[in-house]
Amino acid sequence: MTEALPFPQDRTCPYDPPAGYQPLRDSRPLSRVTLYDGRPAWVVTGHAESRALLTDPRLSADRQNPAFPSPAPRFETLRKVRTPLLGVDDPEHNTQRRMLIPSFSVKRAAALRPRIQEIVDRLLDAMEQQGPPAELVSAFALPVPSMVICALLGVPYADHELFEGLSRTLLQSADPQEVTEARDKLEDYFTALVERKRKEPGDGLLDELIAERLDSGELGHRELVRMAMLLLVAGHETTSNMLSLGTFTLLEHPEQFAALRADPSLLPAAVEELLRFLSIADGMVRVATEDIEIGGVTIRADDGVIFSTSVVNRDGAAYASPDTLDWERSARHHVAFGFGVHQCLGQNLARAEMEIAFGALFARFPGLRLAVPAAEIPVKPAHALQGLVELPVTW
Ligand code: HEM
Repeated sequence: MTEALPFPQDRTCPYDPPAGYQPLRDSRPLSRVTLYDGRPAWVVTGHAESRALLTDPRLSADRQNPAFPSPAPRFETLRKVRTPLLGVDDPEHNTQRRMLIPSFSVKRAAALRPRIQEIVDRLLDAMEQQGPPAELVSAFALPVPSMVICALLGVPYADHELFEGLSRTLLQSADPQEVTEARDKLEDYFTALVERKRKEPGDGLLDELIAERLDSGELGHRELVRMAMLLLVAGHETTSNMLSLGTFTLLEHPEQFAALRADPSLLPAAVEELLRFLSIADGMVRVATEDIEIGGVTIRADDGVIFSTSVVNRDGAAYASPDTLDWERSARHHVAFGFGVHQCLGQNLARAEMEIAFGALFARFPGLRLAVPAAEIPVKPAHALQGLVELPVTW
């Protein structure tokens, strides 16, 4: 029986699914759990079932649907506003996504590589000059994706302390009032930025959207502002967690780490396997709009459905020895970037950033190691994107 199992739960080991999810792993592919507000929900844990459900139009991403489940109090706050892309269904979703696809193509990500390399090298130079030791999240893992998404969008990186702090509160705070205030401040920031850009255009994606979509009336002002907020937050908090948690995981797996350093051509496969293994976006949320029969159960209309990617990506039916970190396996069909219409828009960019950042970091500091015992490294709470609060390293 998993009905009373509280969900989500904190990770006990930073890179493994929470120990408390064992009953979910045992009762794949779907289980009933209890959310913090006492409401029941389905948790999907089977790999095949996840891919079937994530492409099923009978599941909705509309957070404003009163039946949409809340895995944490901050979701109540987010439900008050209409989140573009992530929080809307087709056809509205498709219209918004089509405006952005060209800017996030494989080709665009490849064209950004020299710029990413430059950012990475500059940050590593600073780390080398100032250390050892260093705190890897603030010195490297956060600024790399933050500078890259700023360059892509045309947001001044000089404002990073403001928007990084607000994003952190938005994604991690347990206090709904604090989350509302952070969201409002971020919206004010982008409203002012869009106004400024209308007067003095630059050469980022936001400037393009203003010129091509806002002025033509295809995108509303508020819709554009909220799209910019989503792109900025999704563009730096996610990759940052992968860089810090990925580094920690490698330091805790010396054999795999040595193999990767000996043969950097393994990097693309290693990035894919780390995405699967770490599953930092552990919980995509939906609501059923009709009854759905799957995996021997019936999901009823208005039932909440949550995908535990950490469990799904360790499904033994999809991956042999799923709890082993293995560069040789083909991990590409993981659901760490989601699946279906909402599958991560920034995945090509994220892959480019991770390959360049991991490759350069390990080449620069061959003696990289933890500066404190692994058990002392603080992890993020269950309802946030998974990752490390800090990562003290030395070399
Ligand atoms: C390794 C880093 C990343 C991970 C693990 C990740 C994960 C995800 C996941 C799981 C989803 C699907 C959510 C759902 O279906 O409910 C998603 C969607 C999205 N991601 Fe990422 N992401 C990453 C990096 C990025 C980057 C760099 C951007 C750049 C802007 C980005 C932008 C987005 C956007 C806009 C969506 C919504 C797409 C839609 O609804 O159509 N992500 N991401």
